Amino acid sequence: MSFKSRGKRIIEEVILRAQQIDKYDVGETIRSLAVKTGISPSEILKLNSNENFFVPLNFLREILRQVIEEIDPRIYPRDEFRELREALSSYLGVPADNIMIGTGSDQLIDLAARLFLRDGDEALSIDPTFAIYERCVKSQGAIYRTVSLREDFSLDLDAIMASITPKVKIIFLCSPNNPTANQFRREDILRLAEEFNGLVALDEAYADFADTTLINEASELDNLMVFRTFSKVFGLAGLRVGYAVAGDRLAKTINERIQMPYSVSITALKAAIKILEKIDCVKKFIGELGAERSRLIDALNRMGGVRAFPSQTNFVLFQVDRDSSAVYRALLNRGIIVRNIGKVLRFENCLRVTVAPALMMERFIKGLWEVLCENA
Ligand SMILES: Cc1ncc(COP(=O)(O)O)c(C=O)c1O
Repeated sequence: MSFKSRGKRIIEEVILRAQQIDKYDVGETIRSLAVKTGISPSEILKLNSNENFFVPLNFLREILRQVIEEIDPRIYPRDEFRELREALSSYLGVPADNIMIGTGSDQLIDLAARLFLRDGDEALSIDPTFAIYERCVKSQGAIYRTVSLREDFSLDLDAIMASITPKVKIIFLCSPNNPTANQFRREDILRLAEEFNGLVALDEAYADFADTTLINEASELDNLMVFRTFSKVFGLAGLRVGYAVAGDRLAKTINERIQMPYSVSITALKAAIKILEKIDCVKKFIGELGAERSRLIDALNRMGGVRAFPSQTNFVLFQVDRDSSAVYRALLNRGIIVRNIGKVLRFENCLRVTVAPALMMERFIKGLWEVLCENA
């Protein structure tokens, strides 16, 4: 076989293997929907990715203006990583050495999968949950297995324990979970960490909206790694900054040997540092979220044929009594983008909507109401 055709065979193998991984559906974008519907982009309600519209755009732009004045983009970021880890250390109450920074928490989740999994290894997770874990596991050539949540969305700890084999190197949990919006019991996650030899990778992207966190325990235990993000509570999804907390040895190994030395841009690092200095403002902005979330859940539950589930996140999962794809498309025609989830355990026809400030929620509720009346 010629050198050239052998090369092509390798490409074929790699592509074939990658085809085992589902495409990640980012959903409709503002621009594409504006083109399709003729609705102006500024009129489109984007409620499908759990972004945070409680943090005012002007506030974030002012931070970015200051960042632009201070940075020298000709120089690789270095001190900024240390400064952000120190700022996070004060914010979280965990030592800076136990904190890792990444290009969004997605990238840190991928990095954990790369570190722990080899061809033929297994990873366990729950069903349903955030799709990225499966992608990260499969791209390592490892096997992704899931254990169903119970019908009330709680963790089936016994079933998870029973599924652990020597091949399982990592267990991914998401708490509060996306898309079910509930938080799991601390005791259950800690028991899992105690009994399991591998890594418990706990995604707490939404913990800022919930009651509790295991971030302190992550810095004290050897095998619990907690992932957090600036995309949700801080409203910085577009800048791509995430962080993780783990025990001394794991965090040191990742920081010194695994993570790329310049994994986050200087602009994003500086903006994250500055927003932590204004944490009181952020807390004030998101103070409204809890009340808005309750109002949204009540309004949905008052509509005939809709059932909204409780939420400890900045999104709400709800079920409709008809085809959720049709409801999704009818909302799109009105310039409203939500996420069509479909079946969640025994609940058919579920959709997920981001909790946003009152005016946006009023438009969403009105739009959904009209869609349901039209298709009654
Ligand atoms: C559970 C969960 N983890 C992580 C992320 C992504 O976070 P980041 O923007 O930091 O990559 C999301 C985004 O929707 C999420 O729902």
